[in-house]
Amino acid sequence: MQRLRSFDAAPDLTPPRPGRCVAPSILSADFANLAGQVREVMAAGATVIHCDVMDGHFVPPITYGPVVVSALREEFGDEIFLDVHLMIERPELQVEEFAKAGADGITIHVEATPHLDYTLSAIRQAGCRAGLTVCPGTPPDAFGWVEVDLALIMTVNPGWGGQPFLRNQLDKVRQMRATVGDDVPVEVDGGVNPDTAAECAEAGASWFVAGSAIFGADDPAQAFSDIAAAAGCA
Ligand code: DX5
Ligand code: ZN
Repeated sequence: MQRLRSFDAAPDLTPPRPGRCVAPSILSADFANLAGQVREVMAAGATVIHCDVMDGHFVPPITYGPVVVSALREEFGDEIFLDVHLMIERPELQVEEFAKAGADGITIHVEATPHLDYTLSAIRQAGCRAGLTVCPGTPPDAFGWVEVDLALIMTVNPGWGGQPFLRNQLDKVRQMRATVGDDVPVEVDGGVNPDTAAECAEAGASWFVAGSAIFGADDPAQAFSDIAAAAGCA
């Protein structure tokens, strides 16, 4: 049994992605045609793809695990940044698997582990960008105590696509931008459409996750472009 553990400097991380971008969430995609759906939004300019992993414990639904992440990595190589949002208990037990599968960024919930600092360090040590997030009912106090490469503010309760945007989270977005400064992406996730994306941008968000507003639309590429325009993405 390993009784000593040291965290040296993290290895070189993957290059950061655009300062401001829309990240389509494949939760609402057609899984029988996943590569085709991702290709559609890439053609409209998407470079970040958001992958929602749910375990049936932290949130009631179960979605998918590392095999889907590795399938996307194999299909698209370095053309996409895989932004993996872990809605699972004890994420520290799964960091290596997702890093091996090809995640570029791994985001964990403050509510899912007592070992935040350790888990964020392990994510970096595995060569990924370390993201932290909070559910709508959780104050963002933990952010003052750990280093993050991405701060995600949930604008719905995690677990399901298609829920209405929780406008009362905009103050948290403002607070988060002030906490992390200009260089760290502040991501919003849930209920994002052209109208709410504009409000989030005004509050300081820079990465905009959208699932049903993109993949539930008749024309996902057009829907992506509409949200990107509203959010002020270049
Ligand atoms: C919710 C997920 C979201 C989800 C958002 O638990 O974290 O990423 O896909 O879906 P929409 O955009 O439909 O609210
Ligand atoms: Zn998500």
